[in-house]
Amino acid sequence: MSIFLTGGTGYLGGYVITELLARTDARLAVMTRAKNLDHAREKLWKSLQLHLDAADFFAALERIDIVPGDLHAPGLGLPDDVRAKVVRECDSVLHIAASLNRKSSKACFNTNLRGTLSVVKLAREIADAHELRRFSYVSTVAVAGQRDNEVVHEDEAVDWARSDYDPYGRTKKFTEHMVAELLPDISRVVFRPSIVMGDSRHERTTQWDMVRATVALADLPVVPLDQTTRLDIVPADFVGEAIARIHVKERPDHGIYHLSAGVRAITAGDIATAMEPVLGRRMRFVKHLDGATDLAFRAMNRLPRGNALQPIGALMKVFWPYVVYNTVFDNDRITKEIGRMPEPFTTYCGPLYRFAKGCSFRFPYRDYPEAP
Ligand SMILES: NC(=O)c1ccc[n+]([C@@H]2O[C@H](COP(=O)([O-])OP(=O)(O)OC[C@H]3O[C@@H](n4cnc5c(N)ncnc54)[C@H](OP(=O)(O)O)[C@@H]3O)[C@@H](O)[C@H]2O)c1
Repeated sequence: MSIFLTGGTGYLGGYVITELLARTDARLAVMTRAKNLDHAREKLWKSLQLHLDAADFFAALERIDIVPGDLHAPGLGLPDDVRAKVVRECDSVLHIAASLNRKSSKACFNTNLRGTLSVVKLAREIADAHELRRFSYVSTVAVAGQRDNEVVHEDEAVDWARSDYDPYGRTKKFTEHMVAELLPDISRVVFRPSIVMGDSRHERTTQWDMVRATVALADLPVVPLDQTTRLDIVPADFVGEAIARIHVKERPDHGIYHLSAGVRAITAGDIATAMEPVLGRRMRFVKHLDGATDLAFRAMNRLPRGNALQPIGALMKVFWPYVVYNTVFDNDRITKEIGRMPEPFTTYCGPLYRFAKGCSFRFPYRDYPEAP
């Protein structure tokens, strides 16, 4: 079994690769955007060092075929012989790569739509040559568009009459549709993670946007949010395990899974309680400031670069709607199928806060190790 995988150099890709290596004996054909093979290995080391030491990394490389490719290039930029090998040897596709740039229609359009179309065409070619066991697509709960105080179930999330918050949600929504329309005869699975933040087993992370936003909020003298607001935050270790296990399962129970905290999602007030010993004070909240808060974040975003408030404004401008909409995504399907719940954010937010501030939101990456 060989799995063609995109996005392996990304945050979630590192989790998924690690889980697949540990749980299966599959080979992985990892499409990597890089200048050459050495550069591709360096990028993989960067994403996998959160999980593997040098010895395990070199052992992992024995099972990984690096496929040089770019979602933006015609035909994924795969040389003919490489494409022929992928078509011959891969029996499933796990498409994780995406642009998460919520501010850029161009990036989302090119990567999420045009890029996924190229991945689908490759999948079609595999299916025409021999059995394609599965096409899995990592989407997002952002496909549910604008919401207000809701519990969203998998089959109700995509509603074409609804507006979206940003080009990211919009393009991921259409991509789900495109995959279903163009691969109707293939066993397909769509995974929709909610807000992925941190790892419930340790304090380390390499993905900072949401962590930065959370730390900034925790440090405010008053948080402009109702403390009963539910926040659907899920740890990356749960998401990685779920994707790997369902992707290789012979017959998954469903075609779409929310990888989320669901109705057990914690509230802003729960975070305040968990953070009290770390902050040495209780976070304070003030209600009904939503419009004014939005304006304040926009104004901060317009400050000159170099101003300490500018990056917080830039982040909050795009993430704030996903905080205040007080909406969670039912996770009964995945928790039943893999037999476990995601750890609540409150069990690990304190160590994550300390780690993030301790390294100034920069993971202490280790250089590429000496080959054994
Ligand atoms: N993290 C979250 O909170 C979250 C929540 C919900 C859903 N998701 C979904 O999960 C998936 C992975 O997200 P992530 O957090 O791991 O993102 P990430 O860390 O930004 O990783 C993105 C991956 O996509 C690859 N990629 C981007 N543009 C590419 C291109 N033109 N050609 C080839 N590869 C390209 C990147 O490769 P390079 O290394 O070359 O840039 C990287 O491997 C995405 O589909 C996202 O929508 C994430």
